[in-house]
Amino acid sequence: MTIVLGIESTAHTFGVAVVRNGKILSNVGRSYTTEKGGIIPLEAAKHHQENKREIYFEALESSEIDEKEIDAIAISQGPGLAPCLLEGMRFAKELAKKFGKPIVPVNHCIAHLEIGRITGARDPVMLYVSGANTQIIAYASGKFRVFGETLDIGVGNFIDNFARYIGIGFPGGPVIQKLAKGGKKFIELPYTVKGMDIALSGILTNLKQKLESKKYTLKDLAYSMQETVFAMLVETAERALAHTGKKELLLGGGVACNSRLQEMCKIMCKERGAKFFCPKNFLLVDNAAMIAFLGEIMLKKGIKIQGKFIEKPDIKPRQRTDDVEIKWK
Ligand code: ATP
Ligand code: FE2
Repeated sequence: MTIVLGIESTAHTFGVAVVRNGKILSNVGRSYTTEKGGIIPLEAAKHHQENKREIYFEALESSEIDEKEIDAIAISQGPGLAPCLLEGMRFAKELAKKFGKPIVPVNHCIAHLEIGRITGARDPVMLYVSGANTQIIAYASGKFRVFGETLDIGVGNFIDNFARYIGIGFPGGPVIQKLAKGGKKFIELPYTVKGMDIALSGILTNLKQKLESKKYTLKDLAYSMQETVFAMLVETAERALAHTGKKELLLGGGVACNSRLQEMCKIMCKERGAKFFCPKNFLLVDNAAMIAFLGEIMLKKGIKIQGKFIEKPDIKPRQRTDDVEIKWK
């Protein structure tokens, strides 16, 4: 029996979770949000520092395990915002030293992907759509390869930026989704797909210009934005399925909470005879359960840092998905 405690602190969320043999015993997280404007890294880090102990004890209590039973501390090492990552890494080292247990450094993006196993996905193409990241990822010869990605900004940041422009705070995605539901008229927007890559900044500029022109309603613009950008994502995901010959599509990342995106992916999968997998919302957004879950898989393969090397793991703010050697497959 293995018990792994996971810590997530790459961006806006500080989370602690406990996983035992692939089962999530607890998953507690608190997010830094703003009423107006975007995320300020140092403020998010301060939020993490102020909340971490409370979140830790809450996660322990609801898991009903004793802290001495923990076998390892899994930490989200990167990519992410350096000040936020540092808070998590410091806390992980503090706990590891306190209990004399190893640290398992986990890549945040791959954790988003591997948590898909919980839904039954085995060898999927993953459409990973979060704030900072937009990637089409699939496993091929020893690594998770990035088949396509955004050439400029992540789709979540794109939506948040549009939201901020119209005076909505962070995160903007859920509010834009509600606005889009009220939209009726489709307004043509630039559509930028290059192979399996997409670009979003041109669409953002265009949206802002259309808004300034006062010729369109906010609801119609939100609706058209979703229809256009999600169609771009679905098109690239389908191309990756065709290219790799894989038969499963998995969604991950906060933007995957969007029910219209889920619906469009489902239709595409049905049309080409692929299976569609989408974890529950609490596993799509940043969460510590996915870190503990992948941490346990890695620990079982002997991937850990301990003893006199315990100070060695460092944050990796710019770590890329395809930089990570996959030694647990
Ligand atoms: P990563 O570090 O993996 O890039 P992240 O820090 O951006 O992740 P996530 O929690 O994965 O965090 O995603 C947050 C994003 O998801 C925000 O940009 C938010 O607006 C977006 N989002 C959340 N819910 C929805 C929704 N219903 N529709 C669209 N976007 C959404
Ligand atoms: Fe994330």
